[in-house]
Amino acid sequence: MRKGVFDSSWKRTVKCGEVDKSCEGREIVLNGWMRNRRDHGGVIFAELWDKTGIVQVVFEPERDAEMHADAGALRSEYVIAVKGTVRERPDHQFNPNVKTGQWEVVASDFLLLSAANLPPFEIGEDTDAVDENLRLKYRFLDLRREKMQNNLRVRHEIAQYTRAYLNDNGFTEVETPILMRSTPEGARDYLVPSRVTPGSFYALPQSPQLLKQILMISGMDRYYQIAKCFRDEDLRADRQPEFTQVDLEMSFVTEEDVYALLEGYVVGLWKKILGVEIKAPFRHMEYKEAMARFGSDKPDLRIPFEIRDVTEAFRGTSFAPIASCVEAGGVVRVIAVPGGAKWSRKQCEDVSAEGKKLGAPDVAFFQIKEGVLKGPLAKYLDDEHKAMFLEMAGAKDGDAIFLIANANVMMVSTVLGQLRLDIAKAHGLVNEGWEFLWVTNFPLLEWSPDEERWVATHHPFTAPNSDELDKLESDPASCGSRTYDLVLNGIELGGGSIRIHDEEVQEKIFKCLHFSPEDQKQRFGFFLEALRYGTPPHGGLAIGFDRLCMLMCGCKGIREVMAFPKTAKAQDLMTEAPSVVEQKQLDELGISVRSFVVKG
Ligand code: AMO
Repeated sequence: MRKGVFDSSWKRTVKCGEVDKSCEGREIVLNGWMRNRRDHGGVIFAELWDKTGIVQVVFEPERDAEMHADAGALRSEYVIAVKGTVRERPDHQFNPNVKTGQWEVVASDFLLLSAANLPPFEIGEDTDAVDENLRLKYRFLDLRREKMQNNLRVRHEIAQYTRAYLNDNGFTEVETPILMRSTPEGARDYLVPSRVTPGSFYALPQSPQLLKQILMISGMDRYYQIAKCFRDEDLRADRQPEFTQVDLEMSFVTEEDVYALLEGYVVGLWKKILGVEIKAPFRHMEYKEAMARFGSDKPDLRIPFEIRDVTEAFRGTSFAPIASCVEAGGVVRVIAVPGGAKWSRKQCEDVSAEGKKLGAPDVAFFQIKEGVLKGPLAKYLDDEHKAMFLEMAGAKDGDAIFLIANANVMMVSTVLGQLRLDIAKAHGLVNEGWEFLWVTNFPLLEWSPDEERWVATHHPFTAPNSDELDKLESDPASCGSRTYDLVLNGIELGGGSIRIHDEEVQEKIFKCLHFSPEDQKQRFGFFLEALRYGTPPHGGLAIGFDRLCMLMCGCKGIREVMAFPKTAKAQDLMTEAPSVVEQKQLDELGISVRSFVVKG
């Protein structure tokens, strides 16, 4: 086999994907990975790949018999350097699917730079069908796929654009530490034991929240960071234990400044990366309205139907279970699904069953066929109530209507909201497009049954609505906040708030959260101290960078836009992290490990 030194005579003069007319008739040198070797009547055809693309290489026996014989031993993913002449392929052999499809390189010599084991899966675009765990274990091979290369390249371009945009808008990029004090923020912390202070721990930051606020107190005015965040929480397709935020904070601003900055960013980014015009300003919706109309704080506005309240249409009707629910102060709500009148009874019953699984005691259904309301409960409505029902439901001929009546308004909304998403996905009722939405005014506090106290919905430094401060004592649940989430196509892309800069307000919130002065000092003492030294009004937000890349690359999960993601069990299958460590390391840290039963 032709092994040798990779000296300058073997360095590529052209990249694989860049072979074109300008190379015709020239002797060039290519470097890359071998793919798809085929023998045709003694002639060997192969593809050579590098990050720019692939090009066909031909080894002809008559040119150099020895070289040809050596080429016969080359396998997929071998790395080689090839010298050869570029010629146009015969007409009928053009490959229109490949950028270089009109050309081939007739090899005059090659050098084997490194051999490769047989890959556990073929590296082609259908690798998506390969078991994901295998792809994660052999991530170095998975990343050789064009799609993954492209995702990482787009991610890089988004990061570049982000920096340029924020730099142009007067922001300074500041790095904040990874080894931090633990300041619990909702999720569990990842802890790092300290060797020099045995028994003490650092925490990896869940976000740079407090430090970015301190930077405002320091007079930095506008900060950003493409920041790594760590949260030990249950994982989903759009959640990883270690993820990235575009984190920013601004001084002397109100919500409008944050909205305008972000809208400018999104409009420019979509134009630059996707060539798409996004309309700004984005729509706004308060949290309460989002819950009532969509049963979610991140409504997907691409779906052309929503939850409607039909309570009044059932008041005094003859179907006792619903009429009595209405009398007792309950609500009756529905979704009317376009085209659902064509579904079989079984399909409608399946939706009901799904609703029950989600927590509704019952889900009734109707269909409107040729203008007539059908369904097990239709007979209980007289003509007047029928008309009222259809009007309030926003239903039309050809729809199916799913209905839940209950005193638990939140349950009714969230179950109908989930059914809306599931039905729309299953029946192709999600329109194309980019639907951005600001969801605002989240409740400041929520009741934690576990802790039996009020907890901050976002974090304890979020500013309450100033005209609702008195509710903190009388009715904490109804106090709104100066919060905003940026939602895109039903996914929470980012979130933030205007923060508290007034010590008295901060005191009130802590009182409401039942944080004693000792608790406050212990948890956030350093921050409270900083707040007392001249805090400007400030606010900001963090965009989930992985989610942003996922949506812009058209991927279903954030793992597809991360080079080395973890599994749902927070494992890195390639490096096999987490792992046991040497006893010596544990001894140095003063840690002893109890034995655990490892659950399947
Ligand atoms: P929040 O917790 O809402 O706010 O996070 C901001 C955004 O980060 C993304 N995100 C995640 N992405 C992937 N995996 C995860 N586990 C994960 N968790 C969150 C989401 C989310 O919208 N400090 C505040 C921001 C602020 O108030 O300025 C914060 O972290 O897209």
